[in-house]
Amino acid sequence: MSQESKDTDSSTQDFTAYSIIAKKRDGGKLSSEEIKWFISGLTEGRIADYQMSALLMAIYLRGMDTEETAALTDFMLYSGKVLTFEGQNVIDKHSTGGVGDKTSFILAPIAAACGVKVPMISGRGLGHTGGTVDKSEAIPGFKTDLPFEDFQKYVIEHGICMIGQTGEIAPADKKIYALRDVTATIESIPLITASIMSKKLAEGANGLVMDVKTGHGAFMEKKEDAKKLAESLTATGLRFGRNMMTSITDMSQPLGHAIGNSLEIIECIEILKGKGPSDCRDLSLHLAGGMVLLAGLAKTLEEGIEKAKAVVADGSALKVFRDMIERQGGDPEVCEDYTKLPLAQEKTEILSNANGYIHRIDALAMGLHCVDLGGGRKVQSDAVDPGVGFVLHKKVGDKIEAGESLLTVYHNKDQQKLVEHLKDSILGHDIKIDSKKPDVEPLIYETHVNWSQKNV
Ligand code: URA
Repeated sequence: MSQESKDTDSSTQDFTAYSIIAKKRDGGKLSSEEIKWFISGLTEGRIADYQMSALLMAIYLRGMDTEETAALTDFMLYSGKVLTFEGQNVIDKHSTGGVGDKTSFILAPIAAACGVKVPMISGRGLGHTGGTVDKSEAIPGFKTDLPFEDFQKYVIEHGICMIGQTGEIAPADKKIYALRDVTATIESIPLITASIMSKKLAEGANGLVMDVKTGHGAFMEKKEDAKKLAESLTATGLRFGRNMMTSITDMSQPLGHAIGNSLEIIECIEILKGKGPSDCRDLSLHLAGGMVLLAGLAKTLEEGIEKAKAVVADGSALKVFRDMIERQGGDPEVCEDYTKLPLAQEKTEILSNANGYIHRIDALAMGLHCVDLGGGRKVQSDAVDPGVGFVLHKKVGDKIEAGESLLTVYHNKDQQKLVEHLKDSILGHDIKIDSKKPDVEPLIYETHVNWSQKNV
């Protein structure tokens, strides 16, 4: 598919933007040639933003089938650089994003310590969800803008490298995403699938582990939508010859205890030391186990998880993490001395105003509060303060007494007024306490492993 997509001469095709938009508007199925003509027209400047926006709205309303979604993915993928790696044990993971979702820093070194090669290209945070690149930049000196040659070399020689998205990977997605963002066309399964998969396929991994989040802090709030997205990602990955594991996981409350870049790095290191909160640890081991399975280094997911646990227990995953930090210019001593990470100087405890059980910790609200403190971006150009955030002392289902600390806010000296406002919001509605013990949502709703016929 890829070679074909590069070689077809779009200028010979007898298409117009009008006819393609009208066809999708009326519920028609676009051909691969029509999709290619449109996407290449956008990147070459032949298609205007308003025409692309009209097509995006038509796709949003009418949808796309698996074949159309794969064609869209293919042309977005080949709008930029596509990396390749030899061998079957090159596996990456993608999460659709959430609050406190820091698993990449835990599972990537775990998988690499098990023998998986992990080429990880991640994005920055926008809105209430944090970004892997912002978290890694909390580590003093850590570089996420390495040249692709170094990226490939480190993955091949050391099994792991974590860098940021560049304009060279799927540039069509960058343009299309910016248009979707301002035309109310983000929440479309084919458009999300093509956006995620065009970037992930460009990394050259043979297998992908997908963590599709659901719940109030997730992109796909409803489980049925998360399931549809998981199916679409899987179908597209399989068409491109990738082995796929997809898990649907809970994002109704933040993952782990820490929210905020430095605080999340500390939590990752703690988990790599065999400590830390159980939800974040269990999910990281589950996803790392899937990477080990897809790499052919375990026969079952359970065996993959056991291998993942073993490299945490013997310290080799932490060593991989430490070595990666050093190779990428960061200070590896952060692993032993957390004061080397930038942390806000002021700490304020928010105390419970009731006895009972925690019923809800609103992940979306907590993510937005972290952005208000400066820990995330409202617009792409905002600077991020790595030192601010929250450490939750309780999770949904935990018992609490009035006067006990619910959470600690890490903030700057001039933010006292903002902290008072956060306190009102958190105690008023974001964290709900009730006298009855609640039912707790499962952490992992379902997991599916699919092997590509091209790989088995
Ligand atoms: N993440 C992406 O990369 N693209 C989307 O469309 C949605 C989430």
